[in-house]
Amino acid sequence: MTERILNFSAGPAVLPLEVLEEAREDLLSLRGTGIGVLEHSHRGKAFTAVRNEAEAAIREVGSIPDNYKVLFLQGGASLQFAMLPMNFLADGQTADYVVTGAWAKKAIKEAKSAGNAHVAATSEDRNFCYVPKEYDFSADARYVHFTSNNTIFGTQFASEPNIPDGGTLICDASSDIFSRPIDVSKYGMIYAGAQKNLGPSGVTLVIIRDDLVEAGNDALPPMLQYRTYAENDSMYNTPPAFGIYLVGRVCQWLLDQGGLTAIQERNETKAAKLYDYLETSSLFNATADADSRSKMNVTFVTGDADTDAEFIKQATAAKLDGLKGHRSVGGMRASIYNAFPSEGVDALVDFMKNFEASQG
Ligand SMILES: Cc1ncc(COP(=O)(O)O)c(C=O)c1O
Repeated sequence: MTERILNFSAGPAVLPLEVLEEAREDLLSLRGTGIGVLEHSHRGKAFTAVRNEAEAAIREVGSIPDNYKVLFLQGGASLQFAMLPMNFLADGQTADYVVTGAWAKKAIKEAKSAGNAHVAATSEDRNFCYVPKEYDFSADARYVHFTSNNTIFGTQFASEPNIPDGGTLICDASSDIFSRPIDVSKYGMIYAGAQKNLGPSGVTLVIIRDDLVEAGNDALPPMLQYRTYAENDSMYNTPPAFGIYLVGRVCQWLLDQGGLTAIQERNETKAAKLYDYLETSSLFNATADADSRSKMNVTFVTGDADTDAEFIKQATAAKLDGLKGHRSVGGMRASIYNAFPSEGVDALVDFMKNFEASQG
């Protein structure tokens, strides 16, 4: 077998080996059809089955209520930053944003072009190392947008912000979707670029309540309206077929693992191993406040840029790849999404301990 090394990349990121092995077969011949998954017509019987199975697996794993649509879009989570205000925010109207990192800043920037974007809370005062606990929500917000996991800064909401009654909560869940149970009925819309916890880049999952689909701006070009995707089973144009296939297989894998409760338990155990060590280490420190730490992206530093660089160099040589932190935080980031193996976390902790010992 081709050698695989430990991949701590923040995204695109590690995928379940079983899924990749199955995909390798399906690339050549999808379920005995003699035609690979990349080669089938998206309107044909074989791909229609794949699409329907993908949606069914997503619905089951996320316990998605019937009054929500599951849509497959392109353009990444970044297109959602723009599509959301285009659809639901007009001149003179207000949307609330919880600004907890670089992605939230990009999201609010797009809203500013459509209407009033109000910062309901921000953690920028300490370089986004925590999740805010207090909010200043607008009385008339069209929606409240937050980022459940801040990939770059290594913070994560323990639960969704409590928004005013009757408000519409929208979540960019790109880097922690389906990493724990989620009560979809609390949300108007959840979106996620697939390339961290769900599959390959190139497909964005959008889970949206029916009344929002209806309420979207119908003067936009069809490709920018949610209703176009909702009314056409996400097949108004050629969909990101391979992405849909793989997201479906990953969600089936999640179900086979025992679903989101089991995955959450596993994710918590993995993250705790790293954070527990960071608490006792006299070389490494976690960058995020203890009550805000992400179970998906563990960010840490030594406090000395040269030592960080040496650590990353040695780790890479030891086949622990992708540990360099984002430049806005520096240091290291270990992304340990759903598919990242528990033994990989053990290997990292051992490596860190040895490195710490080698530093005297
Ligand atoms: C939380 C979050 N939102 C949005 C994005 C941007 O996603 P995309 O590259 O799919 O546009 C990322 C990418 O890393 C992310 O981590």
